[in-house]
Amino acid sequence: MEIRVFRQDDFEEVITLWERCDLLRPWNDPEMDIERKMNHDPELFLVAEVGGEIVGSVMGGYDGHRGAAYYLGVHPEFRGRGIANALLNRLEKKLIARGCPKINLMVREENDSVLAMYEHLGYEVQDSISMGKRLIEDQEY
Ligand SMILES: CC(C)(COP(=O)(O)OP(=O)(O)OC[C@H]1O[C@@H](n2cnc3c(N)ncnc32)[C@H](O)[C@@H]1OP(=O)(O)O)[C@@H](O)C(=O)NCCC(=O)NCCS
Repeated sequence: MEIRVFRQDDFEEVITLWERCDLLRPWNDPEMDIERKMNHDPELFLVAEVGGEIVGSVMGGYDGHRGAAYYLGVHPEFRGRGIANALLNRLEKKLIARGCPKINLMVREENDSVLAMYEHLGYEVQDSISMGKRLIEDQEY
């Protein structure tokens, strides 16, 4: 298994992976999300490759204050082998190398097993409510 930076020719495969991981939401246009990422810290967008196939992804970011992780997903047939752990680990190392002191991420409340995984990996549930405001409406996917 190799963890590497996303390349433009991974585009279709990564979107298919996100579909399989049920990471797509009608209000997020994944193609736009990737295009935006290509213009902003693209080297924090990581994929896991096994035998030439993309089996995992994490889209990291750093805004100068906090790091972030989005689109963490591993192909169902490749789960339970430490691939998510490896992706997060690589992202954390890259963030630390940039002097990023903390990473934040969002998990849907009903996603209990993912919460348990993050806690196992040292993440803590925090006593704050995540708020958001849509600034650009993307096309429904
Ligand atoms: C969540 C997901 C990315 C995990 O991928 P994965 O490759 O199977 O995870 P890993 O095998 O790397 O497991 C990571 C670690 O968490 C642990 N873990 C996994 N599930 C756990 C659970 N339910 N409770 C406690 N620990 C758990 C693993 O043992 C492993 O720790 P270890 O390396 O010390 O053994 C994958 O299930 C997925 O794509 N789910 C659908 C998409 C999704 O919900 N993404 C998260 C969006 S916030």
